[in-house]
Amino acid sequence: MSPSVHVCQAGSCRRNGSEAVLLEIEELTNALDGECKVKGSGCLGLCSRGPAAVSVTEGREQRSHVNLDSLEASANVVETATGTKPRLDDPGLLTRLSGVRAMRMREQAISQYRWNGALNSILDEVQDKAKRGKSSGDLERLLAEVLVKSGFKNPPFDTMPSKIEDYTQWTLEDVTKLTRHSAVFHFKSNDRKRGTPNPRGGGRSPPKPKTWHTTLLGEVGKNEEGPLPWVERDYTPISGALEWERGTCDILIKIYKDGAATSWLHRVLTTWEASGRPEAGLKVWLSKPVLTLSVPYLVSGDAASFSPASVLLLLAGTGIVAMPQVLHHRDPYGKIGISVPKRHQLHVPVDMVFSCRADDVLMLDEITERCKEASEYANNEPKPPQINKGLRNCTLLLTDAKASAENSPFPNVTCSANDLNDLKSLPNAEVLESRLSLEIVRGALAKMPEPCRVVVSGPSAFNQAARNMLLEERVSDEAITILEA
Ligand code: FES
Repeated sequence: MSPSVHVCQAGSCRRNGSEAVLLEIEELTNALDGECKVKGSGCLGLCSRGPAAVSVTEGREQRSHVNLDSLEASANVVETATGTKPRLDDPGLLTRLSGVRAMRMREQAISQYRWNGALNSILDEVQDKAKRGKSSGDLERLLAEVLVKSGFKNPPFDTMPSKIEDYTQWTLEDVTKLTRHSAVFHFKSNDRKRGTPNPRGGGRSPPKPKTWHTTLLGEVGKNEEGPLPWVERDYTPISGALEWERGTCDILIKIYKDGAATSWLHRVLTTWEASGRPEAGLKVWLSKPVLTLSVPYLVSGDAASFSPASVLLLLAGTGIVAMPQVLHHRDPYGKIGISVPKRHQLHVPVDMVFSCRADDVLMLDEITERCKEASEYANNEPKPPQINKGLRNCTLLLTDAKASAENSPFPNVTCSANDLNDLKSLPNAEVLESRLSLEIVRGALAKMPEPCRVVVSGPSAFNQAARNMLLEERVSDEAITILEA
């Protein structure tokens, strides 16, 4: 078998320049004698350390590579796969490849309204060109354009602007604290510029069904992610597209002590609550909706190798937000407000394995409801060939709770064992005190009609472990979609 390299082309790796890493690795391998296959891949479960890749040697030895943020790092991947060190002594090649990397990163940032990330990349390249005595006329123009989009004309960038292109301000209406660490933030907006996940009318072709996300700006002031006074974080709302169009949006957020955006949100929430939740409300900026996965294939972009006959959700922690977004497509007219041809509706069995800490069980009521929908349907129609409502089967995996509530944002919120009784009583649900294991994955896969799309979403370590288990069970890479959570 010839050696190969698989470079992640999904989510955060793409934002960090993985298209350019792919190109670099292709160029470096082309210059070597001997064959080495280089391919783009779906998420490898290493999202927080992207751009990421996996090298496979002639002897089938696999190795993960992370933080591929330089040409030297890409060369190291090639050397691991092929055993030959690529030459990096052609200054023309080095300059061209670093230019491509910067260009891809800023294109990606601009296409997703990440103005801080885009400016960061542009400013880095302007500086780099200045060092090399090169003119950066085009970049200066782009810099000015992106600055206008971000609501600024010139520095200083120390206060929030009144207008930001492709963003609108949403008012916090309420907060439902679910656990000691997580809450659902209920936002409202009357601004029509908020857009819609499904633009229609005006001679457009009918909208394609999709899952989607929005970017929240954490107004943290000066930060390392770019020159603007905010950090950009993607969230998948748990409310539907139709609700967005009606001006409401619910976002499940886990507050991390060290998270720049979430600790900012917690600070302003605390102040807002302490001052008696004033009418004027707490405001946050949310971007227009951005495509995450196309439906029914559940892959990023339009390219799909198959239409699934079943969907298995392997979720952990806040990755649970994928569940409502996927299930909304069982009722596109009611939940999304668009009519979708039958072949694009998600009328296939959907099972879920959800892993969470025993003190951080998220969306328990919704999980129970979705299981009930399917079990009621099964009672009315014994053994239907396809169950097209709710969750056909659900396994809730409880891992150890954190010993103390210290440093919890909501220390007084509890989730008791009794809350689980409703779920436990359902014939299509089980609750286990266990981590995700190969046996659990194997058992879940055995129930899925083929071809099955497996959607994995959770923290990086969970995603990587789940992917490895799926590969061990001979699920093909093409059937696995991994989302960051
Ligand atoms: S490893 Fe690349 S986005 Fe997950």
